Amino acid sequence: MTARRKLIAGNWKMNGLKSDGLALARGIADRLKAGPAPACDLLVCPPTTLVALVAEAVSGSGLAVGGQDCHAKAGGAHTGDTAAAALADLGCRHVIVGHSERRTDHAETDAVVKAKAEAALAAGLIAIVCIGETLAQRDEGRTIEVNRSQLLNSLPDGATPDNAVIAYEPVWAIGTGRVATPAQAQEVHAAIRAALAERLGSDAAGRMRILYGGSMKPDNALELLALPDVDGGLIGGASLKVADFWAIAESC
Ligand code: 13P
Repeated sequence: MTARRKLIAGNWKMNGLKSDGLALARGIADRLKAGPAPACDLLVCPPTTLVALVAEAVSGSGLAVGGQDCHAKAGGAHTGDTAAAALADLGCRHVIVGHSERRTDHAETDAVVKAKAEAALAAGLIAIVCIGETLAQRDEGRTIEVNRSQLLNSLPDGATPDNAVIAYEPVWAIGTGRVATPAQAQEVHAAIRAALAERLGSDAAGRMRILYGGSMKPDNALELLALPDVDGGLIGGASLKVADFWAIAESC
């Protein structure tokens, strides 16, 4: 039996100004410091504008900070983009790549996501690689095929359980209040782990963390986090409230 320590990650998306971002980060860090700490790793991914501020505010608390995206190139003429090394320089340990909102809003393909994940690894960051099917794809019975294909085409070369995390986020569950049932989540997570085993071998696949994301809340976290192949959560809306984020972490 492989012990995978769970990861509870907050994706703040494009939310927060200095004052509320700081209050949220400090609220979580203060609870961590007060203890007892929940039995999981904790991460917040603020918007890029707040990463430096948040990283400084929570330094030494045990709360990790990550970015929400990075560019595939190490640097250069890419106006408005963020280099993975710049995130690392601010104190980030993680970066999310391939979130469905980026895939949709910025037409990011699996190849782009893979290149971004490889840039993250090159900068020493842990890449959180997001995949997930749309409602139409699920209704067509293509859920496993779609996730398998996204995974195998988005996974960076050189991925290991130490530098990569997978996040399964069914698009129809993101921000909708509609959550995957435990059976739906477990089915896809198990298929993801099987695909990882084909690519990386069963030992690495058994140690790699696979997070669930999509309307995870305090009242459904317990049953999702208890599933054998669910190794944590990528939380949107509920990560914007200290009490909700903490309650999810405590479900571990
Ligand atoms: P919600 O938790 O708001 O559904 O968002 C999930 C998500 O997209 C996290 O990356």
